[in-house]
Amino acid sequence: MPGLVIVGAQWGDEGKGKVTDLLAERASMIVRFQGGNNAGHTIVRDGEQFKFHLIPSGILHPDKTCVIGNGVVLDPRVLWEEISGLRRRGVDVAGLRISANAHLIMPYHVLLDTAGEAKLGKLSIGTTRRGIGPCYADKASRLGIRVQDMLDEKILRKKIMAALEPKQQALRELSVRRRKLRRETPEEMPDGPDPRLDLHAMTEEYVSYGHRLEPYIADTARLCWEQLDADRTVIFEGAQATMLDLDHGTYPFVTSSNPVAGAACVGAGVGPGDIDEVWGVVKAYQTRVGSGPFPTELEDETGAMMVERGDEFGTTTGRQRRTGWLDLVALRYAARLNKMDALVITKLDVLAGIHPLRAAVRYRSSEGAVFEEFPYHQSILHSATAEYEELPGFDAELGDCRSEADLPPEARDYLRFVSDYVGVPIRMVSVGPDRDQVVWMGEKPALRAA
Ligand code: IMP
Repeated sequence: MPGLVIVGAQWGDEGKGKVTDLLAERASMIVRFQGGNNAGHTIVRDGEQFKFHLIPSGILHPDKTCVIGNGVVLDPRVLWEEISGLRRRGVDVAGLRISANAHLIMPYHVLLDTAGEAKLGKLSIGTTRRGIGPCYADKASRLGIRVQDMLDEKILRKKIMAALEPKQQALRELSVRRRKLRRETPEEMPDGPDPRLDLHAMTEEYVSYGHRLEPYIADTARLCWEQLDADRTVIFEGAQATMLDLDHGTYPFVTSSNPVAGAACVGAGVGPGDIDEVWGVVKAYQTRVGSGPFPTELEDETGAMMVERGDEFGTTTGRQRRTGWLDLVALRYAARLNKMDALVITKLDVLAGIHPLRAAVRYRSSEGAVFEEFPYHQSILHSATAEYEELPGFDAELGDCRSEADLPPEARDYLRFVSDYVGVPIRMVSVGPDRDQVVWMGEKPALRAA
């Protein structure tokens, strides 16, 4: 199985980083294919914590090639901080490769993201404010600036000028707000125009990142083909998740890219025939950051317990995540949409001590209609309430379980119920943050040797 896609099956933060890190052992290349530094994954190695936003989770394996694909939007300042941070900790990043065609997040994208959210007020999406939406919008408008543009100062300057032109109105509004803030809090707001929007300074800064990142810039699609054609395993690592997909998620409360498995082809530059397996990563319960419908949301003690035991705070923004029961209606939808071959269940240990366990098996609309399938209509979803199957809980701490037989019978029943409902086998269960805290269900996958 040379081409394996790992996707999030819910609203993100399922623990894809750990799964990728584990499977990367038996792959030769790991490719990120969409999103940007709105993502965040934490990997714990021998008690040491690593947090990444852009660099693929495989980077801790020195002999692997880690690719930031063309479908990613990249803030070079963030990437440079990540590279420097890893180097300071003695991690070899020589295997990193960045697509010359990936789009760059510019300072004005970040400002416009924040301003857009402020304008929406109560209707805001709750973005990570990292400039993701405005950057993808520029890409679609053909006003984007790409990694390769950092290598040519003249082109870069021209492209920045062209990209700024249609944004003048929005940027003028920002500078009016800046002037107002300066009057209110002169000590916090320095005099003069926003230095982040100065064409000369911006060009200089990005050229300087271009120099620093040049050794890593490559034709990454070709690198993928070489591995795949030599029958070596390539892992395509998704960021965010299915329910945040721009086309298939809970629009408009979604991200601006396509985190579904199909997007791995576009975002990495490979064909559908290069994908052999799709694994969906699922938290044993449900979480969401930002606004948008969440039919199984819990705003009670059980939800608070999930936050506390699951440490449900965002890696990127530190925001507390909303929590709820596992939503099997949404999961079955995600399984079909991605045509998942396997499920990985994470954070099963967090459910210890919760009695009974519940999993949503249908929705009921405000008019009383029953939905066994995920409804496409936004207003139905927004008012839907979930109906549950109840299952017995378990009290045992699972952190030391290493085989299926170690799991309490109630935990095994819960897993079986999920797998049967969705119609996809569970291949791995994570029972704690450390990389050895996993239970393989059935055979370990026979990934081809790197
Ligand atoms: P954006 O991707 O920053 O534009 O944010 C759009 C929506 O996606 C917001 O609800 C964010 O909270 C959510 N989001 C973006 N990235 C992640 C992630 O990595 N995990 C969870 N939610 C995310």
